[in-house]
Amino acid sequence: MGKLAAEYLVHVKVLDEQHQRLFDIIEELREANATGKTREVAAKLLGDLCDYAHVHFKEEEDLMKKAGYAALSAHRVAHRDFISRVEKMIADLGRGHDATLGMDLSAFLTEWLQKHVRIADQQYVEILHSRGIK
Ligand SMILES: [Fe+2]
Repeated sequence: MGKLAAEYLVHVKVLDEQHQRLFDIIEELREANATGKTREVAAKLLGDLCDYAHVHFKEEEDLMKKAGYAALSAHRVAHRDFISRVEKMIADLGRGHDATLGMDLSAFLTEWLQKHVRIADQQYVEILHSRGIK
């Protein structure tokens, strides 16, 4: 699996590793789609993504809180929104929603995560580092 480009690094070891894993799960979803995924495979990968996003967002929010990051609540809203979207995709797949089944959901997910890590996450880097969180 690929290594994160510099613009996606937050230079906090645990968070960089978790971001990498989130990108990897989405990449697996993209590959599954490209090779003719089954509904079960897509639902399983989206479930993995949802579970791991919960773990990662909690860790990230705990560190932001510990560092006294002022924009924590807005950041938390963005995290909750991502979880809701993934949950909706899983629900749509479960209902056999054809439009969802035929779509490459990974494109939306990759774009969301890239933008989030590159823009929103970069904003907590300085304060975390200043508190010795690396
Ligand atoms: Fe975040």
